[in-house]
Amino acid sequence: KKAVLAYSGGLDTSIILKWLVEEYGCEVIAFSADLGQGEELDHIPEKAKKTGASKCFIEDLREEFIRDFVFPMFRANAIYEGRYFLGTSIARPLIAKKQMEIAKAEGADAVSHGATGKGNDQVRFELAYYHFDPAIRVIAPWREWDMNSRTALEEYAKKHGIPVPTSKKFPWSSDRNLLHISFEGDILENPWSEAPEEMYALTKRPEDAPDTAEYVEIEFKNGDAVAVNGEKLSPALLLAKLNVLGGKHGIGRVDLMENRYVGMKSRGVYETPGGTILEEAHRAVESITMDREVMHLRDSLMPRYAEMIYNGYWFAPERLVMQTLIDATQKTVNGIARIKLYKGHCRVVGRQSATDSLFNVDFATFEADQVYNQADAEGFIKLNALRMRIAAIQRAKK
Ligand code: ARG
Ligand code: SIN
Repeated sequence: KKAVLAYSGGLDTSIILKWLVEEYGCEVIAFSADLGQGEELDHIPEKAKKTGASKCFIEDLREEFIRDFVFPMFRANAIYEGRYFLGTSIARPLIAKKQMEIAKAEGADAVSHGATGKGNDQVRFELAYYHFDPAIRVIAPWREWDMNSRTALEEYAKKHGIPVPTSKKFPWSSDRNLLHISFEGDILENPWSEAPEEMYALTKRPEDAPDTAEYVEIEFKNGDAVAVNGEKLSPALLLAKLNVLGGKHGIGRVDLMENRYVGMKSRGVYETPGGTILEEAHRAVESITMDREVMHLRDSLMPRYAEMIYNGYWFAPERLVMQTLIDATQKTVNGIARIKLYKGHCRVVGRQSATDSLFNVDFATFEADQVYNQADAEGFIKLNALRMRIAAIQRAKK
């Protein structure tokens, strides 16, 4: 019996590692994904081995994460419930995919994760596991063991000689990658209390951001960002660069109540500095290159698409079908957006497309033009009003 565990090196997954060895008597292979969480991954193999893992795999997935997960999602401008950029939701399917690859290569018959039985992450991990192997055995310790408090966990750690992190650990839960950092729990469980300033990890307080605005130009090809200020960058490096810029100007903080898939409301605070700029820029290039009806159709589907990602259906057929449509809408999304960053805000101030602009001054100008016959509008409006005119006639008869 062999299990592959999604392991972060933190207290929770360290305890899970030990618990799997003790409770199931199985061989445990630890797997850690580098998604740009910025934490030290170097010591993870030693830690994993010391805690009882037979092997430890670490993979740098940063480029794959942004290229094949984050960028496709941003082609749709996907935002959950009008606020949340889905930074955690989009990471889980990739972690699960790699975990399953390792399970297959190592001949493991089970996989395990550290998500609780109350949240979204368990669903995201497990829907992906079953997509890759319908017969995989899933072990979710949080749903099985009777440790239900921090204190119980710390006691277990002490009893089994698992080092409890000595560095000042914050009391709230967080999840970080190249797209975002999330915060939940502790003081945030009171929806009325403001997040303390020391919680924020990626962004400056807008009040402390520079007093002069900064401009950034982002170029898009087929709906994906390819360059910043004229410099071509790989997806991960590009987002990392926007994170620095956004962080400096205090951009991308949100505080929300969200509806979890399992049915409860939950308070979350997020920082998505680069992603916030990226979405503003992407919309700007779309606004000059995309057909109206195509855009409105895609926009009408976006909330459903965001829900699919939030709920964990990344590998499900409905998401894939939707992605095909979304990708097709992006063929013309080529151009550059100019964005102004200032004290917590980013706003488009210019957009252009050398190849795909549908903006034609000849038609739109308020000055005299040669191409548009204003008299045509009379019939256009009259026929569109026909239903209402007939109804008015009917009303008058009563
Ligand atoms: N509520 C957010 C979501 O469902 C963030 C979850 C954070 N997960 C975590 N393990 N800290 O996507
Ligand atoms: C968890 O429950 O493990 C984290 C929160 C979530 O998944 O929604």
